[in-house]
Amino acid sequence: MSSDLGSKVVIVNFKAYAEVDGENAANLARACQEVAAETGAKIVACPPVVETSAVAKAVTIPVLAQNVDPRKPGSATGWITPSMVKSCGCAGTLINHAEHKVPAETVGQAVEMCRELGLVTVVCANTVEDAKVLAAFAPDYIAVEPPELIGGDISVTTADPSIVKDTVEQVKAVNPKVRVLCGAGVKTGKDVAAALSLGAEGVLLASGVVKAKDPYSVLRDLVSGL
Ligand code: G3P
Repeated sequence: MSSDLGSKVVIVNFKAYAEVDGENAANLARACQEVAAETGAKIVACPPVVETSAVAKAVTIPVLAQNVDPRKPGSATGWITPSMVKSCGCAGTLINHAEHKVPAETVGQAVEMCRELGLVTVVCANTVEDAKVLAAFAPDYIAVEPPELIGGDISVTTADPSIVKDTVEQVKAVNPKVRVLCGAGVKTGKDVAAALSLGAEGVLLASGVVKAKDPYSVLRDLVSGL
């Protein structure tokens, strides 16, 4: 079983910002859905794991978890199993985000378990080298995000476009089916357009939308770059 969110995708990682505590997570997801409906853009919501069920009930756009652990249902107190991610209504999950790193072996196990359940996997990588190693696990997406640019105002596509271009080249050399996303500092439609022109098939972003006074307007601008 396999799943795919396709190309030209904007994934909004809600992280654990106070702005999305409680029902605010579903409210932000509704803004994502509104812009997706108005523009035809593929926008994916990635709320805190404790809100995934509520968000997946509130919207019809795809919802991703922010993490999954390669654990089977059963004696796994506090761990997030692929099975529960699926049962919450998620289409898939991030794995190995820069703020939630796990060993490469764990990434491989998580990708495999998600694949068996038809969950989309977005594996994050800090560097081109990491991306190349992790592509061997054949996730659906690799998202390259230099940690030093995360949460900042300079997009990876401006600070160092070669990171995006080289990641696309290296990942495709390992497995041409793996789609590449980029993130860190992506805040505008211009940044999104630059990402696509460098060969990325979408972006993973957070603060530009989640911390915005008017997320709807930011989202409208972002998708104008698709
Ligand atoms: O997962 C996306 C994230 O790490 C990038 O964050 O705030 O730079 O868009 P931000």
